Amino acid sequence: MGYTTYIDLIRPLIKPTAEVITGRMGEEIERAKIAVKKALDNKRVAVISSGDAGVYGMAGPVLEVAEAEGVNVPIEIIPGVTAATAGAAKLGAPIMVDFAVISLSDILTPWSEIEKRLKAAAESDFVIILYNPQSRTRQEPIVKAYQILLEYRDADTPVGIMQNVGRQGEKAVITTLREMIKHEIDMTTTIIVGNSKTKIIGGKMVTSRGYDVAT
Ligand SMILES: C[S@@+](CC[C@H](N)C(=O)[O-])C[C@H]1O[C@@H](n2cnc3c(N)ncnc32)[C@H](O)[C@@H]1O
Repeated sequence: MGYTTYIDLIRPLIKPTAEVITGRMGEEIERAKIAVKKALDNKRVAVISSGDAGVYGMAGPVLEVAEAEGVNVPIEIIPGVTAATAGAAKLGAPIMVDFAVISLSDILTPWSEIEKRLKAAAESDFVIILYNPQSRTRQEPIVKAYQILLEYRDADTPVGIMQNVGRQGEKAVITTLREMIKHEIDMTTTIIVGNSKTKIIGGKMVTSRGYDVAT
């Protein structure tokens, strides 16, 4: 079971005999409840997330729902490749050092908290990875995040913008913080904002760990 888009991506892998349950975005808790109920009926259930299920995915909700319902079924979390590392590989090596992953979705997290995290990460020179940067109905957070980042980072800081990594329509663009906002940014986009040690080497975005490579 999973969000319809993700189920469609793995359709060829699904056994023809399997019962397939699809759902919409925003129905995560309903899906987790159905998964737990099916498991109690002795079904083997696979709940699909994109990337890694433990990064803004379904692993947490399933564990929380099972606990809330007092259910004791074995739950295994299968690790995946999250958009941050999949995207980083397309850009070069931008997250070689400490990085902070921040979701700009203010649906479940108040904007004041997101803003606090953005400021703290920007001030501490973390490489910053932005998930959920923008959707059709949520366009303001990316503009506010852009303004906050510019307060702390040089406008020429390299920025990588990846869309649909590992899927049809994959795109990876390297730009600067100044220009970031002019690029296409949507629900399938992850953004990596470099830190003070990030540079461009042969068209790739690289954050230096500090090795002396000259000798
Ligand atoms: C709800 S989060 C899910 C993250 C997912 N569990 C992961 O580990 O990658 C959705 C956000 O992840 C990012 N994302 C997920 N898949 C992506 C992909 N294929 N390419 C670029 N970004 C992606 C985008 O920022 C998107 O808005």
